[in-house]
Parts: sequence; structure tokens; C-alpha cells
Amino acid sequence: MVDIKRKIIMLPGPVDVPDDVLLAMSKPIINHRSADFHELMASIENNARTVFQTKNNVVVLSSSGTGGAESAVFNIIRPGDKAIVPVFGEFSGRLAEQIDQAGGRAIRVNAPFGTAPSIDQIEASIKLNNDAKSIFLVYNDTSPGTTYRMAQELGELAVKYGLFYIADSISVLGGDELPQDKWNMDIVIAGSQKALFTPPGLALVGVSDKVIDYVKKNRPYSTYFDYSKYVDYLSKLETPFTPALPLFYALDVALARIVQDGMDKRIQMHRTGAQAYYEAFKEMGLEPFVEEKLRSNVVISIKYPPGIDDAKFRSTLENDYNLVIAGGFGEVKGKIFRIGNMGTISKNKILPTIAAVGHSLNSLGYKNDVDKAIDRAKEILTALAQ
Ligand SMILES: Cc1ncc(COP(=O)(O)O)c(C=O)c1O
Repeated sequence: MVDIKRKIIMLPGPVDVPDDVLLAMSKPIINHRSADFHELMASIENNARTVFQTKNNVVVLSSSGTGGAESAVFNIIRPGDKAIVPVFGEFSGRLAEQIDQAGGRAIRVNAPFGTAPSIDQIEASIKLNNDAKSIFLVYNDTSPGTTYRMAQELGELAVKYGLFYIADSISVLGGDELPQDKWNMDIVIAGSQKALFTPPGLALVGVSDKVIDYVKKNRPYSTYFDYSKYVDYLSKLETPFTPALPLFYALDVALARIVQDGMDKRIQMHRTGAQAYYEAFKEMGLEPFVEEKLRSNVVISIKYPPGIDDAKFRSTLENDYNLVIAGGFGEVKGKIFRIGNMGTISKNKILPTIAAVGHSLNSLGYKNDVDKAIDRAKEILTALAQ
């Protein structure tokens, strides 16, 4: 048996899971075709709709986020279908590949990492490809740490041109603004292991009735991800296939907590936490990777100062402080480090993380005033509970 040691996990997913959410997984296994499960599903569904800010069905897939993204692709894309995809990070690039692999044609609207394509660029691409059927956006691309702040305007474009609008919101739902119905999103995908502070393994997908009608008339090339089956079963408070029950128990606790706190408060907590990180790192003389208006509140991505080696820095954090953060990957590998500011947002997590980053950089030769940075973060965090 493997011995797993507890570390301070500050990754942009999976995130540290509170004990009550984790312990919920030890409840007994029940019949998923029984009144007990119906009660569980009703609770999850009610709260999920509040978190998604939607009247739509929210289906829960026993799959990781990639499965959630793939479900959107397989329900919307038929061979030869064009889809507009803004590409500004590894995950948006991957979504475009998923579309191509499903036999569709991803029309990429590219922008350098750290920026994002403008609404005008995207509209120009829609006009050039007037046979496109959908827009696939990664609302928060976790690899550069970029939130597409024009997502609402993109929804207006989708309505104007009659396109399905799909948002991979895997790393952000629960941690930033994302009212599905108000922003005209047909499909919104969330990952359990991110701002919903549940263990990895579930994808939640808010699906509009328009999509369900389409899927019923145009059958998808997937059985496991066929949304119409999930929605039919949801009307009986069940899932079409055996659900990952322990994860459902955990999700139920986490969603109830989010709803109890209220979405506005949750979003504000993430905003405050993000501000504390960005301001503290600024005191240290560090620079965010992403341009200011697109900076993520859930993924704090910071450029390495000259001379700091990614592997050495992160192993110093882990060995000296038991703290785990992420590096960059793909195009930005070795150039940035990333901290998850998702789920449980508290001074107890943020201040030690900032201190450990500052001291580790000092020990590796990048001199900075850690106390000053901590003072700045404390000022901002006064609004937060422990
Ligand atoms: C934006 C985004 N999309 C997709 C994924 C893939 O999710 P998973 O690793 O759960 O399959 C991730 C994971 O980090 C993500 O951040």
C-alpha cells in the first residue's frame, strides 16, 4: 500500500479538499436506483443550478474535466462542422484539437499567451466562416492563467449569429462571475477538483434545452456522453450509468457550502484572495504573466525573474515548506509559476504561500522584502475570514 503524506496543495487543481467534504466520501454505498439516491441527486441538482445561475439541467458526469469538454464536443459537433475557437492557452488549443479529432473543423482565432483575441477578431472570423455552428470558449485558460473577460459579449455574438455557445469553465466555475443564462451560454462545463473544492473525477455540465432538442434530432456518436440520456434520467433524479457515488456525496457537501455562502460572497472571496497575491508579488518586484484586464482570480500566474530555475524553485518550496504549486506547461514551461486560488480562500493559506515563495526566491538569489509583501497582503485580506 502506498503511504501518502499530506502536503499543502496550492495547485490550480486539484485543490485541497476540506475535511467534511472528504469525509462525506466514506458514507455507505447505496443503490443508485433508489429513493436515497433520488434525494442526493435532488440536493445536488438544486444547488448546482444556483451555482451555475441557470434554469437549465445540470448533468453530472463521472469523468474528469476533459471528459466534460469531450461531452460538449460530441454533442455539438458532427463531421465537417465548423466551430470558432479562441486560442490563447494550452487548454483552448486542446479543445480545438478535440473538435478536429471528432471530425469537426476548429477555426482557431489565435492570440499570444498572456493576451486573448478581441471580440472584433472573433466576429471577423465568424463572418468569414458563416457556416460555423458554434463557439467553443475556454473561459479561464488555466495554463497562462487568463480569464476571457469578454465572455458576456461573446454570448451576444453567439445570439446575433445563431451559434451554440460552449464555455469550458472547468477551472473557474464557483470562483468568478459566470451566470450561464444571462450570458447566453448553451453549455457550461465545471470540474469538481477546482473552485468546487471536491476531489477530482466529476464534470458538471449545464445544458440548455436548445442543445437537448438538437441532440435528440441529431444523434451524437457517443453513448456515455449523450446529454439527452442524462436529461431523461435526471427527470427521475438518476444518472443513466452508475455514478461515482463517493464523489457525489462529496460534491453535495461542497455545493451546499457554496450556496450557503452565496455566489456573490464566494466570487468576492476569490477576488480578494487574487488581489492579495498580485499585490504582494508586486511588492516583491515580480510581474504577472497576463495583461491586467484578463488576469485570472483563480489562477495566479507569475513570470520568473531572471536566473530562477523552475524545478529548483518548486523543489525548494516543497522540501523546505511542504508547499506544492504548479509551473507553466507547453509554451510557457519554465517561464512562469502558477498558484491556485480556488475553493477554500483563507489567510491561513494565502499568507504562508506568499511567505514561502518570497523566502524561497531569496534563498535562490532573487532578493525581495518578504515582510513588506506580507504586510501588503494582510491589508487586503482583512476582509477575509481565517
Ligand atoms: C480549462 C481546463 N480545461 C480542461 C481541463 C482538463 O481537466 P481534467 O484534467 O480534469 O481532465 C483542465 C484541467 O486543469 C482545465 O483547467
